[in-house]
Amino acid sequence: MQVLTVNLGDRSYPIYIGEQLLSQPELLCPHIRGRQVCVVTNETVAPLYLDKLCAALSDYQVDTVILPDGESHKTLQVWSSIFDTLLSSRHNRTTTLIALGGGVVGDMTGFAAATYQRGVDFIQIPTTLLSMVDSSVGGKTGVNHPLGKNMIGAFYQPRCVLADTSLLRTLPARELSAGIAEIVKYGLISDYDFFVWLENNMDDLLAGDMTALAYAVKRSCENKADVVAQDEHEGGLRAILNLGHTFGHAIETAQGYGNWLHGEAVAAGMVMAADLSCRRGAISNDELARVIHLLQRANLPVKAPSDMIPTQFMELMGVDKKVLDGRLRLVLLESMGKAIITSDIDAGMLQDTFDACKAD
Ligand SMILES: NC(=O)c1ccc[n+]([C@@H]2O[C@H](COP(=O)([O-])OP(=O)(O)OC[C@H]3O[C@@H](n4cnc5c(N)ncnc54)[C@H](O)[C@@H]3O)[C@@H](O)[C@H]2O)c1
Ligand SMILES: [Zn+2]
Repeated sequence: MQVLTVNLGDRSYPIYIGEQLLSQPELLCPHIRGRQVCVVTNETVAPLYLDKLCAALSDYQVDTVILPDGESHKTLQVWSSIFDTLLSSRHNRTTTLIALGGGVVGDMTGFAAATYQRGVDFIQIPTTLLSMVDSSVGGKTGVNHPLGKNMIGAFYQPRCVLADTSLLRTLPARELSAGIAEIVKYGLISDYDFFVWLENNMDDLLAGDMTALAYAVKRSCENKADVVAQDEHEGGLRAILNLGHTFGHAIETAQGYGNWLHGEAVAAGMVMAADLSCRRGAISNDELARVIHLLQRANLPVKAPSDMIPTQFMELMGVDKKVLDGRLRLVLLESMGKAIITSDIDAGMLQDTFDACKAD
C-alpha cells in the first residue's frame, strides 16, 4: 500500500492506494470520530461491495443509502434522500458519511456531508478509475441543476480517501478507458515523465495489471494534489486541470449527456487543445502524433463528432461567431508536460483546429 498526503493545512488528508484495502478496517477507523456511519452507494456498486465494507465497519452503527445509478440522478431531489436516512436513523453531528462509488456518488455524498448539520465528516471510497484519479481528490462536491452541470455544490474536503484498485476488476472496459483520459491529462499538463511512462505501460493498464494501475493512480493523485494544494478554490492555477475540457464539454452538450462518457469527450478535447498548441508552435507535429496515438491505444476517441460544425462549437464554448475578443480562455500546452491558460487565441488557427479534428 502507498500513502499520499493532500497538503491543505488543517484540512490535510491521506490517500491510501493499493489492493484489498476495503477489508482493512484499521485504515478507516482512525478517521471515524463517532459511533455512527452512513454509507452512500448506488444500485450497481451495492451488490458488488457494500457487504464487504459493512463487515469492516462492524463496530459502528451503520446505515446505508442506495441511490439510483447514473448522472441523470445527480439531482437535488435524489441528493435530499440521503438526509431522510440520516434524520430518521438519528445521525448526530459526529456521524461520518462514506461515499462508496464513482464520481456521481462521491460528489453527492460530499455535498451532503458539507451541509448535514452544517458539516459532518466524510470519507471517499472511489470505485471507478476516474473517481480514483480525479473526483475524489480536491474537495469539489455537488449536484447538477437542469440548467447546468455541477452548478450547486461546495468545496469540502474528505477525512481520507481509500483507493482500492482491486475494485476496478468489475469496472466495464469503457469506463476504465474514460478514466485513462484524465490520467493522460496529468502527463500532458504537468508531468512529461509520466506521459512517457504511459506510452510504455498502456497495455498493462488496459489489461487491468494491478501494479500498473496503482502506480498510475498514485502519480495522478500526486499531480492533482500538487495543483490543488497551490490553488484549492480555483483562483487560477487549478484551471489547468481543465485541459481538453472546454472542447470536451461542447461535445458532451452537443451529443446529449450520457452518449459520450466524460472521459471520451475529454480525450477528443485534449487532441483539439494539442492540435491548436501545435499550430501555435508550442509542440511539434511528432509530439501531437504521440498524444493522438496514446489516446487511440487507450480506445478513446480522438476526433470530434462529424456533425459538429465550428459555429456550434463556438456557441457551446460561450463565444459568439468568429469574434474572440479575448473572451475565450483555453488551457493549451506550452510544451509536452506543461500547460498554460491563455485568452490570446487566433481565430483562424482555432478554425483550422476545428476542421482538422472532426471525424470524417
Ligand atoms: N469533484 C470533482 O472534482 C470531479 C472531477 C471529475 C468528475 N466529477 C464528476 O464525476 C462524475 C463521473 O464519475 P465517474 O466517471 O466515476 O462516473 P459514475 O459515478 O457514473 O460511474 C460510472 C459507472 O460505473 C459504475 N461503477 C462504479 N464503480 C464500479 C465498479 N467498481 N464496478 C462496476 N461498475 C462500477 C457506476 O455505477 C456507473 O454506472 C460526474 O458527475 C462528474 O461531474 C467530479
Ligand atoms: Zn474531467
